[in-house]
Amino acid sequence: MRACFVGLGYIGLPTAIIAATEGNVEVTGVDIDPRVVEMTNSGKLHIVEPGMAEKLREAVGSGKLKAFTSPRQADAFFIVVPTPFKGNHLPDISYVEAATRSVIPFLREGSLFIIESTSPVGTTEKMADIIFSLRPELKGKIHIAYCPERVLPGNVAYELVHNDRVIGGLDPESAEAAAAFYARFVKGQLHRTNARTAEMCKLTENSSRDVQIAFANELSVICDKAGINVWELISLANRHPRVNILRPGCGVGGHCIAVDPYFISSSYPGEARIIALAREVNNGKARWSADRVAAAILKFEAGHHRAPVVALMGLAFKPDIDDLRESPAMEIARSLTADYAGKAEFLIVEPNIESHPQFTLTPCGEAFSRADIVVYLTGHTPFRQLPANPENKQIIDFCGITSQFV
Ligand SMILES: NC(=O)c1ccc[n+]([C@@H]2O[C@H](COP(=O)([O-])OP(=O)(O)OC[C@H]3O[C@@H](n4cnc5c(N)ncnc54)[C@H](O)[C@@H]3O)[C@@H](O)[C@H]2O)c1
Repeated sequence: MRACFVGLGYIGLPTAIIAATEGNVEVTGVDIDPRVVEMTNSGKLHIVEPGMAEKLREAVGSGKLKAFTSPRQADAFFIVVPTPFKGNHLPDISYVEAATRSVIPFLREGSLFIIESTSPVGTTEKMADIIFSLRPELKGKIHIAYCPERVLPGNVAYELVHNDRVIGGLDPESAEAAAAFYARFVKGQLHRTNARTAEMCKLTENSSRDVQIAFANELSVICDKAGINVWELISLANRHPRVNILRPGCGVGGHCIAVDPYFISSSYPGEARIIALAREVNNGKARWSADRVAAAILKFEAGHHRAPVVALMGLAFKPDIDDLRESPAMEIARSLTADYAGKAEFLIVEPNIESHPQFTLTPCGEAFSRADIVVYLTGHTPFRQLPANPENKQIIDFCGITSQFV
């Protein structure tokens, strides 16, 4: 079995590596970025993912994985390129289309074509139309499927093998052919369905999380107004055997949960009401949080006749990672430092990165001890070691580090 993975990023590269090492597949990895190709061929991992560097060296060393900047002949082709949104939250499937077009010349009778990129419903059918418009002789002779990825960054080596997978064929034969490929290295169950259901399944998983977090975020704003400690409230409500409320924060970030719901709401604007509202609530929580900090700055200045030192603790979108994509903490830091530049001295803390192009970073302990106002934006573990009730400091805690306030 020879497989060609187009897109060697956070998902495509580990999948290519695992297919080579665990699935006994001869893998060609393709990326338009020559640096990625060069590093991969020299056995150096260009992403951060525990356990993957050794497996890459094994795959390259055994000759099972070779990378190129353009596709090569194979039995199966995998599209694992980005699917961002455009400025107006409309999905951008141009990367998927470009990657699809790049493999069309290599398709032949019996080929397997699989899209793994998170995609709006109908994308697989669209790509099939493009394939058959250019290669009409392949109609009914190749297998086409959509198989979404649901691994957790940081635990990819384990989850790629052990998670269940949803396999959406354009027809039942395609689902079978795709399942047979994944069975080479997946120990979780392989659930066959059609391509549209599989596309919607991936979007549904992340939209479900977004809606549930929106409930927690809305609750936190209500509780703030009602003078109720939301952390105590949620822990009490969750003692009910059938209630499980998630934790509020300063918004929702990352390139999946904060992005994928728009793939549903932009296609079905009249119907996707809760899904669209959840996006608004979660985006609104970031603005609300920034306003809370701004109000604290103005109050401090009025009371002390000097500008406060404000420590903004955390830029990443969730605890203990270095990923800043779509992070509400970043947005809050950007807006506060721009709008209140002369009214406060900001110390920016992000223990998981060395440096940042826009912000000068301050070590956690130094920022805490110098600050008049400490704002917890991300629940990183080192912050939990800091005093919860320091004298002469105001704590504004959006993520439950101290179990106080919002
Ligand atoms: N990272 C995750 O946690 C995660 C989880 C589930 C699903 N996904 C989805 O998987 C897909 C890929 O995500 P990712 O995080 O791996 O992206 P990424 O940005 O890390 O990697 C994508 C790679 O594709 C390359 N590329 C772009 N166009 C190309 C082309 N035409 N030909 C060859 N290479 C091309 C880029 O250079 C890049 O190296 C996205 O749809 C994403 O939503 C990601």
